[in-house]
Amino acid sequence: MSIPKIADTKPMVMELEAGNYFWCTCGNSANQPFCDGGHKGTDFVPQKFTLEEKQKVAMCLCKHSQNPPFCDGAHAKL
Ligand code: FES
Repeated sequence: MSIPKIADTKPMVMELEAGNYFWCTCGNSANQPFCDGGHKGTDFVPQKFTLEEKQKVAMCLCKHSQNPPFCDGAHAKL
């Protein structure tokens, strides 16, 4: 399996509306934490996730979280 690019070594805390989102798994997107199609030509595909209500979230940017798309502190061990 390919190794994702580390987009940043800290999460992005943001408030998101309810809805469907596509989290960037490859690290190439210029629109982190979301997919912008930059995974084309790689083994990666975006990960869809759904929020049922407006929510404050800490999005993983290091791409090593075991609880994607959310930060689990994995960036601290990179
Ligand atoms: S740009 Fe990274 S998964 Fe699409």
